[in-house]
Order: sequence, then structure tokens, then C-alpha cells
Amino acid sequence: MRILVTGGAGFIGSNFIRHMLSARQDCRILNLDALTYAGNLENLSDVSQDPRYEFVRGDIADPEDVGRCFSGSLDAVINFAAESHVDRSIEDSAAFIRTNVTGVQVLLEAARKQGVKRFVQVSTDEVYGSLGPQGRFRETTALAPNSPYAASKAAADLLVRSYHITHQMDVVTTRCSNNYGPYQFPEKLIPLMILNAVESRPLPVYGDGLYTRDWIHVEDHCRALELVLEKGRAGAVYNIGGDREEQNLQVVRRILQAVGRSEELIQYVQDRPGHDRRYAIDASLIRSELSWRPRVPFEEGLQQTVRWYQSHSQWVQGVRSGDYVNYYRRMYEKRGETLSALKKPATAQGTAGQGSRQG
Ligand code: NAD
Ligand code: TYD
Repeated sequence: MRILVTGGAGFIGSNFIRHMLSARQDCRILNLDALTYAGNLENLSDVSQDPRYEFVRGDIADPEDVGRCFSGSLDAVINFAAESHVDRSIEDSAAFIRTNVTGVQVLLEAARKQGVKRFVQVSTDEVYGSLGPQGRFRETTALAPNSPYAASKAAADLLVRSYHITHQMDVVTTRCSNNYGPYQFPEKLIPLMILNAVESRPLPVYGDGLYTRDWIHVEDHCRALELVLEKGRAGAVYNIGGDREEQNLQVVRRILQAVGRSEELIQYVQDRPGHDRRYAIDASLIRSELSWRPRVPFEEGLQQTVRWYQSHSQWVQGVRSGDYVNYYRRMYEKRGETLSALKKPATAQGTAGQGSRQG
């Protein structure tokens, strides 16, 4: 089986590549990634010498780059490549439209022309919008994205759907809840809070901290994607979730406990505009059709993840070099974090506060 994985140098893509190479002897993988701030070849250093793995640097929104990857025969394409952070999409949505919408159109067109057997679009539960205190997202829930990130992913889902209806392409879309685990870029809640706690810096909780996410370990997501790739029904959408709802404050408290730090580090900061109150996934379709279920209990997965970040300081240093410090200052100073102890490296470009909006 020869697969094109796009965005394989990011968090979930790199975990998926590692998972597939270890689970499937017959698997050959071509990884197409633009290596944006979120893409990091260090995430794959342990498999980079595997003869079944190959990396190509390129942009999914560029038909030439994509064309180079479709020259050999491909059994499947699985698209992870995306701009993936809600807060960045609020600052500037342009890259989100280019990668998450145009990029998907370019990939679909190439896959159609080359007669690729299967196209898997890795989407998100955020396309459904926000839930009140009750209920869970089903695959039939109406799309109601609230952030530019979610809107761009919803647009892609509709494009994928249209290629199935119009061109009879074999496509499958997955909508997963919030992932956590090793190699996640520390702009997302769990790795950011772990690193801040380890360094005794403030933990910036948005709003009242009572926002709810349905957490899933990345390895459980990868096992689901392997099943979908092989056995998913053409044209289907599958929700994937960890069946584990937690409020942000609960997650932050667990992290502080795991790291052995006081709750005094919690700092309430300005809320995210358009912040979705609650996500919860009904994953009964993939459970019944593909016999998948999440295996990693949240407490255990979180402990492992805390230990992973504590024991990978070189990786952490690598991803926080470059623009990360500027990003952190820009994002959190405007939110009112007062004690930011992250120092700006002498080599960093730009000024703190650059690009900030009101607030
Ligand atoms: P990530 O930000 O860690 O990685 C994205 C990867 O895509 C990076 O390696 C980046 O270099 C690459 N990329 C960005 N623009 C590109 C372009 N134009 N061409 C080629 N490569 C490009 O994201 P992630 O958290 O690993 O998410 C992967 C996918 O899963 C995304 O599509 C996201 O929407 C989806 N998803 C993520 C979560 C989550 O909790 N992280 C949950 C559900 C769905
Ligand atoms: P995030 O990891 O950005 O994922 P998403 O917005 O895609 O769900 O955020 C998860 C939750 O944590 C969300 O409710 C926003 C909140 N959050 C904070 O309270 N503080 C932070 O510094 C970050 C990054 C997120």
C-alpha cells in the first residue's frame, strides 16, 4: 500500500506516520509538508531512515508541488495538512483559506485526475460549532462553524463531499475531537500548560475556564484513521472522539498536579472571541461500523504526555526557537497575562505586540 500523507511533519500526521510504519509492514509513505511553523522534521527523526518513508517539501495549494507527488501510483491520500490553530485564524485567516480550502481543492483535483483509489480528509468536530450543556455532535448535525479555522475546515468538508457526489470519487471524511499527546506544538492548551507549569510561569486560562472539550489521545485517533483508510465506507463521514469531556480548568488542575505546582499559577486572561462553549462527540458510527473504540484513559495519557514533554527538552527548545516567542508575547500580552517570563531571543525578528488587535 503506497500512501501520500500531507502535513505529516505536524502533530497528528507525524504520529500517524509512525503508527502506520510500525503497524503495517506493507505500507510505503510519501510525506508532503510545507514545513510551516507547525511542521517539524524532528517529529519524524526516528523513522527518517526507514526505506519505506520519503519526505517531499511542498505546498498542498500549489498544483506543481502536488503534481510531483502524484507521479507514481498511489493507493490513497490522507490529508492532515492545515493551518490548525483557532487563535491564529482570529488574528489572520488568509493562510487558513489558502491551505485548508484551496489546498484541499488542489489535492482533490490531482487525486481525481490520477484515479487515486481513496481520499481521506482529516477534519474536525469544530465544523459543528458549539453545544449547550446537553447533547453530542452526530455526523448528521448541521455544520455551523464559528471560527475562521472551523469555517475553512467546513468548506473543505463540503468540497470533499461534492467530489464524491459529482465525480464518484472514493472519499471519506473524519471529524475528530481535541487531540493530545507527544509532538503537539505548544500553542494548544495541553502542551502550552504543561510547559508553563514546568517552568513555573502563569497558566493563561481564557474566560471563566469552564469551556468543555472532548479529549482523545493521538494514538487512538491514529488507530481510527488506519481503520477508516482501509475499511471506511466511500462517501461516509465518521466522528471520532475520546468520550472524555473535561472543562479547561479541570485539565489545567490535573496538569498542575502532575507537575507538582500550585494552582496559584492559574491566571484568568481575556477570552477568545467567538469561543465555542462545549464540544462532545457521539462516535457510535465508527464504533459500530469499524469496531473502533478509544483505549487510552485520559488520566494515563495525560501523565504520559506530561512525562514526554519533561523528557524532551531539546525538542521543546527547538520548537520554541524562531517565531514562537514573538507569537507568545503577541497573543498573551494582549489578553492581559502579566507575568510572562518567556524571554525574547536576541535573534528574533519583529517587535512584541506586533499584529495585536484591540484588547
Ligand atoms: P499541525 O498544525 O500540528 O500540523 C499541520 C501540518 O501541516 C504541519 O506539518 C504544517 O507544516 C503542514 N502544512 C501547513 N500548511 C501546509 C501547506 N500549505 N502545504 C503542506 N503542508 C502544510 O496540525 P495537527 O494538530 O497535526 O492537525 C492535523 C489535521 O488534523 C488538521 O487538518 C486539523 O484540522 C485536524 N484536526 C486536528 C485536531 C487537533 O486536536 N489537533 C483535532 C481534529 C482534527
Ligand atoms: P485549543 O488547544 O486551542 O483547541 P481548540 O480551540 O481547537 O479547542 O484550546 C482548547 C481550549 O483551551 C479552548 O477552550 C481554549 C482554551 N485555551 C485556554 O484557556 N488558554 C490557552 O492558552 C489556550 C491555547 C487555550
